[in-house]
Amino acid sequence: MDSTEPLGNALEQLQWHIDAGADEAIGDVPINHLNAVAEPEPAPKPTAKLTPESPPKPAPETTPKAKRPAPVIRKSEPVIQLQSAEETTANAQAIAQACNSLDELRDKLTVFDQCPLQATAQNLVFADGNPKADLMIIGEAPGADEDRQGVPFVGVSGQLLDRMLAAIGRDRTSVYITNILPWRPPGNRKPTPFESELCLPFLTRHIELVQPKALLLLGGTSASTLMNTTTGITKLRGKWGEYAGGNYTCPCLPTYHPAYLLRQPALKRDAWRDLLSMQKHLHVEVN
Ligand code: URA
Repeated sequence: MDSTEPLGNALEQLQWHIDAGADEAIGDVPINHLNAVAEPEPAPKPTAKLTPESPPKPAPETTPKAKRPAPVIRKSEPVIQLQSAEETTANAQAIAQACNSLDELRDKLTVFDQCPLQATAQNLVFADGNPKADLMIIGEAPGADEDRQGVPFVGVSGQLLDRMLAAIGRDRTSVYITNILPWRPPGNRKPTPFESELCLPFLTRHIELVQPKALLLLGGTSASTLMNTTTGITKLRGKWGEYAGGNYTCPCLPTYHPAYLLRQPALKRDAWRDLLSMQKHLHVEVN
């Protein structure tokens, strides 16, 4: 502000800031609270006694520098220890690897609180079907119905999946179904790379424990995450690949997600071909 400005103008500007919500004078430099440290306790005063032989030394002359005070936060504010994404993922990996059964894996996921989705989801959606089945099907993430019931693929796309399975003579007693994410992303948005990466150790262990003969990957998120590729589903679908995660490898086949087929029914033909290819691969005859 120009000191020659009339006072009325300065007051108007001040009022403008107050109206905009800036009602507290803090300082003229921004404070990064993540770098800030709690104000240290004042150092204890030196207790050495002064004797006539040791007169108090005059304080050294210092040139006053225009030094800005270090940012401090009030003691009452908690200092949040942030864990890096790598540390969180490494922790997930250690927890998942230590699980020796599906029940244990489900229990560990139930109490795993480092994925932000857990806080917004109603239920963990672990899996459905027969863990002894030769075919394991992996979708993207639970939707609202799945979140409510804690079971994968029970909404409209699940109903289509059931009809697709019936067309090749299967049902939930002859497949095992899970998702990339075991919690619903709010508003059914796509999983973020962090969420997928964080949940991947659990899925990797899940697949290791089930040891399916083949994986059917439903949709782009499932295919790209488990095949470690950025290629889109339109190019990937119908082409056999190899899944390799942890200590387990098996053939995998990407196909369209049922939710996509509901919007693009003309593509059901391709999905049908993929299911036939899967049955052939698993030496199951389709009547
Ligand atoms: N879509 C998915 O990918 N998974 C579900 O469980 C439901 C809908």
